[in-house]
Amino acid sequence: MKILLLGRNGQLGWELQRSLAPLGEVVALASQAQGNPNQWCGDLANLEGLRQTVREVAPDLVVNAAAYTAVDKAQTDTQQAYAVNALAPALLAEETQRLGAWLMHYSTDYVFNGSGEQPWRESDACAPLSVYGASKHQGEREIARNPKHLILRTSWVYAARGSNFAKTMLRLGAERDELRVIDDQIGAPTGAELLADVSALALRQAIAQPALAGLYHCAASGQTSWHGYAQFVLQEARGLGMQIHVRPERILPIKSADYAVAAPRPLNSRLDCSRIQELFSINLPFWQLAVRRMLEEIAVNHRL
Ligand SMILES: NC(=O)c1ccc[n+]([C@@H]2O[C@H](COP(=O)([O-])OP(=O)(O)OC[C@H]3O[C@@H](n4cnc5c(N)ncnc54)[C@H](OP(=O)(O)O)[C@@H]3O)[C@@H](O)[C@H]2O)c1
Repeated sequence: MKILLLGRNGQLGWELQRSLAPLGEVVALASQAQGNPNQWCGDLANLEGLRQTVREVAPDLVVNAAAYTAVDKAQTDTQQAYAVNALAPALLAEETQRLGAWLMHYSTDYVFNGSGEQPWRESDACAPLSVYGASKHQGEREIARNPKHLILRTSWVYAARGSNFAKTMLRLGAERDELRVIDDQIGAPTGAELLADVSALALRQAIAQPALAGLYHCAASGQTSWHGYAQFVLQEARGLGMQIHVRPERILPIKSADYAVAAPRPLNSRLDCSRIQELFSINLPFWQLAVRRMLEEIAVNHRL
């Protein structure tokens, strides 16, 4: 099987290079063509270049890990956000359908408005609060034009490689006396490793059994707030011998309303992931397990 992976250098794209390798030959592209001997275009904002690439590579499967993920910047950089998150997925759906290929894609809890306290199900109505969320919601609908698709909606992604909330907390926790962290947004930190492994498992089953195609919620089990997540990260990091300056009692909970950002975030980001677990016989471990593992990896690398 020939696989075209887009967004190879993102948190998820990096892990997918590993998890997709046993499924077949992986052609992994980044937004820039450097180091890519065929000069294939992996820039999702260059629609004609992307179309040419899909036609030349002629994959059996396209996995799109690329996305415009700068949530606040998207509020004003609307055109680019829609180009990458909605127009490129439309093109990928068209071209993969033409080839008879499968298409794997990722979306976000930010397609919901965050009301209530129940975990969101796949069938719940979307009402994004931000440009990023709206562009990703449109992207989902475009991807679904190819019936041979899998979309995983996830939340609060992190990895040892890349930028994310946990790594920001490690940096700020080493520098500052006091941290103020939002405690009224609730979700599940989800490791890129887990998402990549679930992707490979789900793809293998869906390709053999096309009735499994569709959209699924996929996040680690359990829930926390950003404040709870920050406390966990810093406590574990201290236990691993990392230099953490801020004392636990100086990690202060604040409300979203007291933290000014350009894009509003949903308060309730809980995702009900029972469907993917049942239909694909997949177990989604509790979020703390893989966060701890990432911290151990970072701690070891610091000591080297
Ligand atoms: N991060 C989260 O908390 C989160 C939460 C829910 C859902 N998701 C979804 O999960 C998926 C993976 O996210 P992630 O955390 O791995 O994101 P990430 O680390 O921010 O990586 C995004 C990747 O997209 C690439 N990209 C941006 N613009 C591009 C363009 N014009 N052409 C080609 N590539 C482009 C970036 O490449 P360059 O750096 O080379 O530009 C980067 O490698 C995305 O669909 C995202 O929407 C993420």
